[in-house]
Amino acid sequence: MINRAIELIRKSTRPVIFTGAGMSRESGMRTFRGEDGLWKQYSPEQLSSISGLRSAPEVVWNWYRMRLMTGEGVVPHAGYKALTYLQSKKGKLPVITQNVDGLHRLAGQTDVLEIHGSMRTASCLDECGFSTELTSGILKNLPPFCPDCGAILRPDIVLFGELLPQKIISKSYELAEDCDLMIVIGTSVQVWPAAGIPFAALENGAVIIEINPVQTELPRSDHVISIRRKAGEILPLLVGLEEKT
Ligand code: OAD
Repeated sequence: MINRAIELIRKSTRPVIFTGAGMSRESGMRTFRGEDGLWKQYSPEQLSSISGLRSAPEVVWNWYRMRLMTGEGVVPHAGYKALTYLQSKKGKLPVITQNVDGLHRLAGQTDVLEIHGSMRTASCLDECGFSTELTSGILKNLPPFCPDCGAILRPDIVLFGELLPQKIISKSYELAEDCDLMIVIGTSVQVWPAAGIPFAALENGAVIIEINPVQTELPRSDHVISIRRKAGEILPLLVGLEEKT
């Protein structure tokens, strides 16, 4: 199975990467679902929704401060470096990610589509146009206010109850419909419309290489090669940075 995956990656002319929270697990970020998933401990409706932000902004901001602090000092693991290497080798390798931690870019990758936004910046909830990097200074007094118009600031993340950024999601579906290979890493494939992206690739004839220690919503099929390993362990091998032993 691993040899087939290596060969498919080598031969692919239009590969695309699609990642979720499990991609960052070995860098120390927690996933949302599963045994130690964040949504086992916290309520997404309260902490990660647009209505929660409007009704209790300090509660929502405290949660993001906690997540940002968890993310401080987090560095991309060997699996990220493997994807950066593959991108440089292929010339073109778009990365579609559900993650908001910015690790693909930190690992030096370009052509990154952050379909759920980014935890690294914030902007005015009333859309006056103000936008800023999320620094620890801004997080001192919560909730933070817009210095231009006085409204509350929001993290630039897609919150529950909001639509995904339309241009980015359309571009992602275009890439899915045109790719010959999609490498799907560390996602439970449960949150729509993001979850539709690998299905669109499959329906249009692409092969999927899935990297996830557990079974997901993706079908068992000849077109889905499921490698039940951790991203940081297997990606260096798949892209040829490490020899198979
Ligand atoms: P989930 O938490 O739903 O799934 C993470 C997946 O990563 C699980 O299937 C794990 O088995 C797998 N995993 C864990 N460790 C891994 C490792 N080392 N290598 C590879 N895979 C590993 O996360 P997502 O699918 O990303 O939405 O969740 C999708 C969305 O749900 C998130 O973007 C977020 C959340 O609510 C928003 O914030 C809008």
